[in-house]
Order: sequence, then C-alpha cells, then structure tokens
Amino acid sequence: MKSENLNPNYVNSRKDSMIGGEDGSSENASSSTRAARPSSFHYSSHMLTVALAKGRMQDEALALLGRAGVEVSGEALASRRLAVEDAEGCYRFVFVKPADVPVYVEHGIADCGVVGRDVLLESEADVLQPLDLGISRCRIVVAAPDGAAAHDYGMLHVATKYPRIAAAHFGARGVPVEIIQLSGSVELAPVLGLADCIVDLVETGQTLADNGLRVVETITESTGRLVVNRASYQLKAVAVARLIKALREVTTAVESKA
Ligand code: PRP
Repeated sequence: MKSENLNPNYVNSRKDSMIGGEDGSSENASSSTRAARPSSFHYSSHMLTVALAKGRMQDEALALLGRAGVEVSGEALASRRLAVEDAEGCYRFVFVKPADVPVYVEHGIADCGVVGRDVLLESEADVLQPLDLGISRCRIVVAAPDGAAAHDYGMLHVATKYPRIAAAHFGARGVPVEIIQLSGSVELAPVLGLADCIVDLVETGQTLADNGLRVVETITESTGRLVVNRASYQLKAVAVARLIKALREVTTAVESKA
C-alpha cells in the first residue's frame, strides 16, 4: 500500500487525473502500453476498447451510451459474451468486475472505462478522469448497528470492501482501527459480531435498514466516471475526444433535467 494516495478526497493523486481538454497529440506519446496488448487482440487505431463495470452500474452506463448514439445489440448483451462491439464497429465493450476497470485501463488493454468513484478512490491506478457521468449516485458511509453505544475507547473494528478509504478516513481522525477486509455482504459483519461498524456503499439505504444498521457518517459521494488510459488519450485523440463529447452532451442533458 502506498501512503501518498490515502486521502480519499485526493483520488488517483499520483498525477492530476482530471483533464478538461479534448484535443491531444500523438507526437510524444509513449507506445509502451500498446506493446502490452496480446497479439490475438484485434487492434484498430480507430476502435476504442471500453471496459464497463459489471453489476449495478452496467445498465445505466449502457443506457447513457445509447443516448450518446453508441448502440450495442440486445442480442449481444443478452449473451454471456464478455466482449461485444457496437453496431458501427467504433467500440468494443468488455465487461469486467468494477475493481478491474482501472487495471485494464491503466495497462492500456482498454482505452477507456466506466466505473464508480468509489472504486477509483480505492484503486492506485494512474488513469485520467475526464468526465463525471452522474450515474449510479451513492455514498460511502460509516454505518453501525442501530442503537449501538458510541465507541470512544480502544480499537475500533471496521469491516469493509474499501480498506484504503476506511483507513484514510479513520487515520485522518486519529481513531485507532483494525480494518477487516471483506468481499461483499459487509452489513453482516456487525450483525454477527465480526466488527463494530462498516465502511460501505449506500444507494437506497435498504440493505442497511434491512440489517438493522444506520448511517453514522458520510465519508464521500460517488458517481460513475469515464476514465481514459494516458497513452490512448494521445494516440487515439480523435476517437477519445468524440466519446467524451458525446457523453458530455447527454450527461449535461441529464443533469440539467434533474
Ligand atoms: C452494495 C453495497 C451494499 C448495497 C447497498 O453491495 O456494498 O451492500 O449495495 O445498496 P442499497 O443502499 O441500495 O441497499 P452490492 O450490491 O454491490 O453487493 P455486495 O454486498 O456483494 O458487494
């Protein structure tokens, strides 16, 4: 674990990942990430490979892409294929676990990705984040059993899928914690006595309520983000700029309607 990235409000802090421009030049771009592409992987300088987070964000991401004019056939989506192309042959979408999106994008296997800010906060991946898509809005919170007494002494046991975010949050407050890393169903941990509290994602709040937990504190908010590989941003500048522009238009439309 690298200490410089522990502030959850300073995500992807190895370099400034938020970029505003949509132009780019391939003149000085390194091709090192390209060399990592498997030779069997069809590669076109015009086609963008986009990694989409499977699960809660997938449908919203595809709907947003559809509004941006990027159509994937229902038949392809209904299949169990994990890589599908759009109708125009401009994009290849690969469906991967959320935590793997920044990995594929950082390594240049995917040029772009759509993934939650929560995942990016937890990741150490060095990727560009040009656009907040405003989808899958949720919060990362500290939650504890309803009616639990305030824990103001000794070590706090915290169960979470977000060990870095949790450690940074409590570390910033000088609260000694033992982080217990889980892969899912985190709400069970305090119910079964594994932890005093959890750090987890809350969208509707239903899972917390159904398991007798309540929000103690909101750490930060999360929405889906478009991420871009640094080399692709230059080597495929036109295609990347086209995608950013198309998504920005529909994202702005959604935001202005709300
Ligand atoms: C997430 C999160 C909560 C739940 C919150 O889990 O970790 O468990 O969703 O959603 P809600 O506020 O709308 O109830 P996810 O569905 O990703 O499954 P997991 O527990 O297996 O990680």
